[in-house]
Amino acid sequence: MPKLRSHEWFGKHDRDGFLHRGWLKNQGWPGDLFDGRPVIGICNTWSELNPCNAHFRELADCVKRGVWEAGGFPLEFPVMSLGESQMRPTAMLFRNLASMDVEETIRANPMDGVVLLMGCDKTTPSLLMGAASCNLPTIGLSGGPMLNGKFKGKELGSGTGVLKMTDEVNAGTMPLCEFFEAESAMNRSKGHCMTMGTASTMASMVEALGMSLPGNAAIPAVDARRNTLAQMTGRRIVGMVREDLLMSNILTRAAFENAIFNNAAIGGSTNAVIHLLALSKRIGVPLALDDWDRLGSSLPCLVDLQPSGQHLMEDFFYAGGVPVVLRELGEAGVLHREAITANGHSMWENVANAECSNREVIRTFAQPFKAHAGIAVVRGNIAPNGAVIKPSAASDHLLRHRGRAVVFESVEELHARVPDDSLDIDENCVMVLKNCGPRGYPGMAEVGNMPLPPKVLRRGIRDMVRISDARMSGTAYGTVVLHISPEAAAGGPLALVKSGDMIELDVPARKISLEVEDRVLEQRRAQWTPPSTPRRGWEKLYVDHVLQAHEGADLDFLVGSSGAAVPRESH
Ligand code: FES
Repeated sequence: MPKLRSHEWFGKHDRDGFLHRGWLKNQGWPGDLFDGRPVIGICNTWSELNPCNAHFRELADCVKRGVWEAGGFPLEFPVMSLGESQMRPTAMLFRNLASMDVEETIRANPMDGVVLLMGCDKTTPSLLMGAASCNLPTIGLSGGPMLNGKFKGKELGSGTGVLKMTDEVNAGTMPLCEFFEAESAMNRSKGHCMTMGTASTMASMVEALGMSLPGNAAIPAVDARRNTLAQMTGRRIVGMVREDLLMSNILTRAAFENAIFNNAAIGGSTNAVIHLLALSKRIGVPLALDDWDRLGSSLPCLVDLQPSGQHLMEDFFYAGGVPVVLRELGEAGVLHREAITANGHSMWENVANAECSNREVIRTFAQPFKAHAGIAVVRGNIAPNGAVIKPSAASDHLLRHRGRAVVFESVEELHARVPDDSLDIDENCVMVLKNCGPRGYPGMAEVGNMPLPPKVLRRGIRDMVRISDARMSGTAYGTVVLHISPEAAAGGPLALVKSGDMIELDVPARKISLEVEDRVLEQRRAQWTPPSTPRRGWEKLYVDHVLQAHEGADLDFLVGSSGAAVPRESH
């Protein structure tokens, strides 16, 4: 076994050893626990303000059972919990802050290995990023999705169902009382969103990266097998410490490519792009925005799950989950089979025998659910550093479209003007939203899938081309161009668009163009003034240092790793 970090705290025969061991003993730990066994930190994002992770105390107890069984010493610690449904202005504003909490807590304390308890959207990337900057033996455990939502005899998916019902309310085809009745029918068990939204996508990314035990993503939160997986995860992290299997041994370029392949095959969220770009820079693996298009956009989507399809995560679990998808990819030659995973086996050893129990939910590579999936990266004079679109969630007839821009300078202006029937807009227009990027919002909120005007909805239209520097919920859908970089608030060309300009989107050609002469754009730039910036606190630090979307929106000074060398003594 390698020399353990925790020995530098607990193995000392002096005053410092007294301090480190003695104060912990106030919890009743017997002295023989400080005998050199691996100390496992359980990084818990439990919070009652984060309903998706509210069951994590029970999960942590199951992890501890496994750690004890394998001869380790588990110590649970809290970190900032980012709840997507409650935090304003957006949980994404705090992803990098939470990652700092994770990184510094790990490095400062006597840990030899770490279990990351992750669930709601941003809790997964923030924990992975923070842990990657320490690079100890680390394993992920997701909290699992809620049971399928059910309402009036139909499946009701998190987020996706809300967006669809909102359109129906705005179109006058669903009464408001019915809309509110659906709240409890959708969220009927513990767990995170049960569509293939960002939480399910990121849990699937954890599995495809090899950072968890097989089967991590899809087991429902309430299924007893989630607790079993937690216990097995606790057992395994002790083994990883003994083998000195570091995060950087798992998070290789091959692992990131496997994640990109998998994201296409599951119809995963556009948010995975930003989070994996940021993670790759923490662990030192070269990965670029264009890799997502080059590696993933020609792949088929195999999984028929909302928002791209009709089923939900519970169905995905019963059908076999991520291992079946990875097996399909592996048999089609689109998987780095040799990539090492957290259980010490290769990816292929883990998934080669995965069986599918429902081909309606997980299709074969030869007869996929959708022929082209993944993320397309479009560029042009309005997005010189790129923008993304998820074709599997878009309308085919809008992937090539030219239309008149209707511009909203802020999300407040959008919400004030869109319901007004006097707004000069029809379904052929292109809706443009500015100032919602990393600096502009700040935090790059999930507002890119703008609500359609009621007068358009009443004509039966359910999709329009929408473009912005914002993100979009992984549960959302539509022909929505996102993550335009540079963003408007940073002076990107998006800031210069005016209502009435013509915009052409050509996804097959990977182009997005603003049909305005350069000379006119320069005149507009001379008159542009940057928006005001925060005066103090976290928002100021964030806005002063956040990178643009195509670089992962991390803070510039957090890129990279500082390792987990033992800091100097505290007394
Ligand atoms: Fe937490 Fe969707 S709100 S996963």
